[in-house]
Amino acid sequence: MIIDDNARVITNKMIIPAHYVMEIHSPDIALKALPGQFLHIKVTNNTSPLLRRPISIHMRDREKGSISILYRVVGTGTQLLSHYKPGDRINIIGPLGNCFPLAAEFKRIAVVGGGIGTAPLLFLALEAVNSGRDVLYIEGARCRDALLLSEHLGNSGCRVMVATDDGSLGYRGFPTELLKSRLERESFDAVYACGPKPMLKGIKKLSLEYRTPAFISLEERMGCGIGACLSCVCKVIADGGRGAEYRKVCTDGPVFPAEAVMFDE
Ligand SMILES: Cc1cc2nc3c(=O)[nH]c(=O)nc-3n(C[C@H](O)[C@H](O)[C@H](O)COP(=O)(O)OP(=O)(O)OC[C@H]3O[C@@H](n4cnc5c(N)ncnc54)[C@H](O)[C@@H]3O)c2cc1C
Ligand code: FES
Repeated sequence: MIIDDNARVITNKMIIPAHYVMEIHSPDIALKALPGQFLHIKVTNNTSPLLRRPISIHMRDREKGSISILYRVVGTGTQLLSHYKPGDRINIIGPLGNCFPLAAEFKRIAVVGGGIGTAPLLFLALEAVNSGRDVLYIEGARCRDALLLSEHLGNSGCRVMVATDDGSLGYRGFPTELLKSRLERESFDAVYACGPKPMLKGIKKLSLEYRTPAFISLEERMGCGIGACLSCVCKVIADGGRGAEYRKVCTDGPVFPAEAVMFDE
């Protein structure tokens, strides 16, 4: 069941320039949320912007009855989000979409987040650690000052590795290259990723090369968020590899098996 909540903002803090974490009191959504799912947020009480904005569930605290989002300010909607203050009411619907499948046999997993794509992965990594899995968490960012999660992950029980484009911290290069070097040394039962499209394409390639199932979270512009408007479709392989069909990112995704997704060349 999808919950429509006029929820109370608990905190809304900038963590690095243009990136915020908002904690929202919403006990019913906190109870139901699974890693990979998202909220559709009405960013204003006015009609402009008219459409809600999809933002992943970053964390949840069932006891407190709260969920958090981690978002980057890119345009009008996210700019408006950044103006919310503790005590304000915000209209959210959720939890929407499917989740990252954490099958019982996936005991050793790698989680790869690129840039703001790391937002839905903290929830996944902590659930995986809490259920006794061995988790390698790779976070990729432009430079050390753009890293978003290292603080949370320090004591999380995950093995954490960092890749920066400029080499200012950790591995110099893309997180996919770092993952490839790990796949050469150890085996994983599954890989989970969210980030820019070129990174997800790289994850699909590695998944096929190392025969490791990978699950990727896609982003598309959304209208309704509930499967009614068809504005969010992506192309997936169909007919045993002979054809293609379209799937809705909001209801069939946002998480898809990497091997199924067709990236336009
Ligand atoms: C399932 C899902 C989960 C998401 N989770 C997060 C999250 O956890 N944190 C976060 O910061 N963002 C997330 N996004 C992206 C977020 O929805 C967009 O950044 C936001 O809608 C932009 O709204 P805006 O009004 O600020 O910008 P707009 O004025 O609408 O757009 C500004 C810029 O952002 C780009 N943009 C807009 N929508 C998207 C989109 N859906 N994907 C990629 N680029 C977009 C536009 O191309 C444009 O360049 C998610 C998107 C989806 C589909
Ligand atoms: S956003 Fe309307 S169908 Fe996906």
